[in-house]
Amino acid sequence: MSKILGIDVGGSGVKGALVDLKKGSLSGERFRVPTPKPATPKAVGGAIREITEFFNYKGLIGCGFPAIVKDGRALTASNIHSSWINTSIEEAFSKSAKGSTVYATNDADAAGLAEMRFGAGKDNMGLVLLITIGTGIGTAMFYKGELIPNTEFGHVIWKNKKPAEAYCSSGARERLKISRKEWARRFNDYLHHLERILSPDLFILGGGESKLFDSYKQHLNPNCPVVPAQLLNNAGIIGAAVYASEIA
Ligand code: BGC
Repeated sequence: MSKILGIDVGGSGVKGALVDLKKGSLSGERFRVPTPKPATPKAVGGAIREITEFFNYKGLIGCGFPAIVKDGRALTASNIHSSWINTSIEEAFSKSAKGSTVYATNDADAAGLAEMRFGAGKDNMGLVLLITIGTGIGTAMFYKGELIPNTEFGHVIWKNKKPAEAYCSSGARERLKISRKEWARRFNDYLHHLERILSPDLFILGGGESKLFDSYKQHLNPNCPVVPAQLLNNAGIIGAAVYASEIA
């Protein structure tokens, strides 16, 4: 199958599109449903149904989900309703999207897969860390092209004993009403810390903020290169489809 529906469940929107797996790009428009509040399994299932109906799609679906995901099950829930913990994302969404089979993986891991295959990390054999900046902070770590799944460096304990994502995600920037410049200064501190503990060869920045990279790149100065995701905010959708095609 060369086209699969990829879905990215985020803190503010659930986005889907058909993905051309040969080209590593969207093969048409993208459809977005606001993430229901509260984002319970039933409510998010409704958003998944809406997306499949919009594309009139039945088949294999890949889904990036904002939690630690093992064997299709959510093990954490930082920016999604707590009732997801221990819930099978794959069973819940396969029920909502009748006639389809859903495979789920961590959202940042999905974005990382896409960037390593088709984007900014292509052919990089070193240690690459993709960081998605959105409601939370997600990370995907690759070494010699292999994913080490479910890294959660957005949750390294930061100042005030809070997770780093509470200090420098876009969610935190909006919540704390800090300027972009102050946000970039904070994010740069965070990059330096990650560099100190991981010695990466490349940072790739994904998520909604990747579109604005040119407006804050001058504030980022770790020793290793920092580049924006080439697939921008579509990396999560594309990577989710790649994941489903490989695991099915
Ligand atoms: C979650 C991660 C997720 C990231 C981005 C974090 O709060 O713990 O699993 O990848 O948000 O959505």
